[in-house]
Amino acid sequence: MKEAAPKPLPEQVDVLVIGAGAAGLMCAAVAGQRGRSVLVLDHANKVGKKILMSGGGRCNFTNLYTGPENFYSENSHFCKSALARYTQWDFIALVEKHGIPYHEKTLGQLFCDNKSKDIVDLLLAECRDARVQIRTRCSIEAVVPLDSGYRVESSLGRVQCESLVVATGGLSIPTMGASGFGYDIARQFGLNIVPTRAALVPFTLHGRQLERQQELPGSALPVTASCGEGSFHEQMLFTHRGLSGPAVLQVSSHWREGEAVTFDLAPDRELAQWLNQQRAEKPEAHLHTILASLWSRKLAQHFLAERNIESRPLKQFSPAELATIGEELQTWRLVPAGTEGYRTAEVTLGGVDTDAVSSRTMECKSQPGLYFIGEVLDVTGWLGGYNFQWAWASGHAAGEVV
Ligand code: FDA
Repeated sequence: MKEAAPKPLPEQVDVLVIGAGAAGLMCAAVAGQRGRSVLVLDHANKVGKKILMSGGGRCNFTNLYTGPENFYSENSHFCKSALARYTQWDFIALVEKHGIPYHEKTLGQLFCDNKSKDIVDLLLAECRDARVQIRTRCSIEAVVPLDSGYRVESSLGRVQCESLVVATGGLSIPTMGASGFGYDIARQFGLNIVPTRAALVPFTLHGRQLERQQELPGSALPVTASCGEGSFHEQMLFTHRGLSGPAVLQVSSHWREGEAVTFDLAPDRELAQWLNQQRAEKPEAHLHTILASLWSRKLAQHFLAERNIESRPLKQFSPAELATIGEELQTWRLVPAGTEGYRTAEVTLGGVDTDAVSSRTMECKSQPGLYFIGEVLDVTGWLGGYNFQWAWASGHAAGEVV
């Protein structure tokens, strides 16, 4: 059967949003509810693909403790206004209005009880109520500034708008529709792009380091991972290609090629002191058995073998030797070979320079009627629901004024 021809685009709308992701749909709904005519265009085959895959399929949609300190940007003040005017409590109220069951997993991270699709359905319902038109499988071919407003040429036709909102996200996971299109539009209007790199991304290891951990993929332990100014106390996971888990993803946002990351493998105690206490209490116990009570036997043996430490009864180590072992295990320095890159990264650091954009409205200062929202901007959150909260807050800020 022949596919029906796509419905032509309206010739003129008040607001055109490019990108039907988290920020774009929020902005569209808010603008539509103000009575603006809104059209959303996306090149993907369906809307909100990253929302659908987020949070392991349960969308970590916000964080109870969201604050400006949970974001990276060349201008750390930029995110404050939007985050203060549309808070995590506002989004939680919206989730509750739609009767979506949710729970706190850990560290204030709120997840859907059921599936991420609940959040996409919420956004689509809000858009429907606001008579927002949404068109997918639409490639944008050109953006032309007019005396007043913009003309957008697309594979579905041309449309004029008063306000043009760029909500095309970052570069991570190209197979999900990510593109550098938002940066191209910014460059077209002479805006600066803060250099981008993959963040919230696993580390890769190579050579001996990787060979030595061949037995470990799937093993996890709580650590404190530190690099530069970042220090995160969460789980670390060994993988077939390197290291992952929340602590590693978080610290990856601080890491630059060639730098070392330091891991405290027993962050809940002073290991030197604890080992000597164990020596006094259980002198016959083997070092690896004692360490296996902190981790698994496999991990204990691995960490000792890595340091060429032979396991013996504790009484055969001097207190100074145990103190050194303890210190080494709390300051494990590792230089990752690299990261898994945009293929698996959750977010993109950098983006459209916030100096060019109003922090209240997200409107481009030099280009009236042009707005940038969400991850395309140089605002990147920690792991834990912060990136969606930025998408909601920045989308809402623009939605109120476009
Ligand atoms: P988003 O990427 O959501 O949307 C951009 C839209 O623009 C897409 O629909 C895309 O198809 C479209 N687009 C791109 N280029 C285009 C073009 N040239 N023409 C037309 N359309 C175009 N965050 C969080 O807070 N909690 C979580 O649980 C997770 N989990 C998570 C898991 C995984 C695997 C990833 C990759 C990411 C997360 N994130 C996350 C991050 C979060 O998904 C991300 O920060 C937001 O989706 C950003 O919202 P935006 O609307 O800015 O971009």
